[in-house]
Amino acid sequence: MAAVTTYDHLLRDKHGKDYRDLAVYRAAGGYRAVLKAKELGPEAVVGEMKKASVRGRGGAGFPAGIKWGFVPKDTDKPKYLVVNGDEGEPGTFKDNYFLSHDPHRLLEGCIICSHALGIETCYIYIRGEFFQQIATVERAIADCYKAGILGANSMGTGKRMDIHVHSGAGAYICGEETALLESLEGKPGQPRLKPPFPAVVGAFGCPTVINNVETLSTVPLIIEHGADWFLGLGVERDGGSRIVGVSGHVKRPGLFEVGVGANMKDIIYELAGGILEDRALKAVIPGGSSCPIMTPDEIDVPMTVDAVRDAGSMLGTCGIIVIAEGTCLVRCLQRISHFYAHESCGQCTPCREGTGWLARIVDDIEAGRGRQEDLDMLLNIADQIGGNTICALGDAAALPVLSFVKKFRADFQAHVDHKGCPHDQPLPGWTRP
Ligand SMILES: Cc1cc2nc3c(=O)[nH]c(=O)nc-3n(C[C@H](O)[C@H](O)[C@H](O)COP(=O)(O)O)c2cc1C
Repeated sequence: MAAVTTYDHLLRDKHGKDYRDLAVYRAAGGYRAVLKAKELGPEAVVGEMKKASVRGRGGAGFPAGIKWGFVPKDTDKPKYLVVNGDEGEPGTFKDNYFLSHDPHRLLEGCIICSHALGIETCYIYIRGEFFQQIATVERAIADCYKAGILGANSMGTGKRMDIHVHSGAGAYICGEETALLESLEGKPGQPRLKPPFPAVVGAFGCPTVINNVETLSTVPLIIEHGADWFLGLGVERDGGSRIVGVSGHVKRPGLFEVGVGANMKDIIYELAGGILEDRALKAVIPGGSSCPIMTPDEIDVPMTVDAVRDAGSMLGTCGIIVIAEGTCLVRCLQRISHFYAHESCGQCTPCREGTGWLARIVDDIEAGRGRQEDLDMLLNIADQIGGNTICALGDAAALPVLSFVKKFRADFQAHVDHKGCPHDQPLPGWTRP
């Protein structure tokens, strides 16, 4: 099995330094990329972002440079940068790292983006439960104002730059970019119809770039080392390194920085140490709980947006959830379905009604009340939710159901036949939902 190369460009916790401290961050070259970006000029900065082929790290994988290019240049309206630090997708815990340990990396990425696109105001929207992370980022921002990095003449560039933190209140839907904007504006977090897209009509009706925390944290590296260097860490059309989070039934769960295109199976068996108790692998959810589940023979795949999609799933947030043999997949789907039913904002009927319906049917199957027709009923309901809602939460609820029932139908059938759960061999830490 090929060795997976790990990096510490983004994941710098092994350096033994406290990068939350502005002096430490600067001593390691921090904020120099802002000045380099100034020398390059706005168009060249956007050009570097396009060339680096950074696919958005928030889940959808949209190329960041292209998104930046959509922001109108000739507008009288103010423009905004909004950072998505909501990180609510189960199995995802990478943005937490930047917010907790390397906030200046994110702030520097925000300043470079803002200077390049003529933005003076940036909002960092952080998940409500992240109390300590919010305090860490606020402290870093205060240090930047004191040092003249933020404020009226940001780093002597002659440009004004303000960054504000906005705390969420624990709703997963507020990670969806337009629900996030509604929430930021003080309204209930319900997604907007698109188009218009936020690049044209975003926060407060003005052009807005919304990027994920990790996406923006790559920007200083790209400007410092060049787009070619960054692209070379990954593959064509999907550049750089990414932080992969591995959780579930592995011996060494955690975050690993790998080049885009590293093999998923190698990441699980080499970096994460293989399966707990050396059990056989039963299944893998590759990019957060909304991504279709994969069978063990599907995971020998490079972790790129396109390759994982071609393998029938989604790269999502690179939050790999590993499931060992002996685990009840009906119970696992029950947990996932209840999450999406709980987090549906209720705006669209298929999602509001359908997600709860799915969860109740899975409850019945797990409890031994499942009827034969329930298996196809699950597929039918999920089919009618997917693609029929304003935002992708409907798909996030439907895709796990479709993939679990199609790929592991025998598990669901066994519950119906045995009128209960035949898989009760819980692993350590595995509790009934
Ligand atoms: C229901 C739902 C929840 C989402 N939650 C998050 C989130 O917590 N963090 C995030 O960055 N993107 C999240 N997204 C994706 C965002 O809508 C958006 O694509 C992303 O912030 C864009 O940033 P990127 O291009 O840098 O990835 C979510 C999408 C949906 C449909």
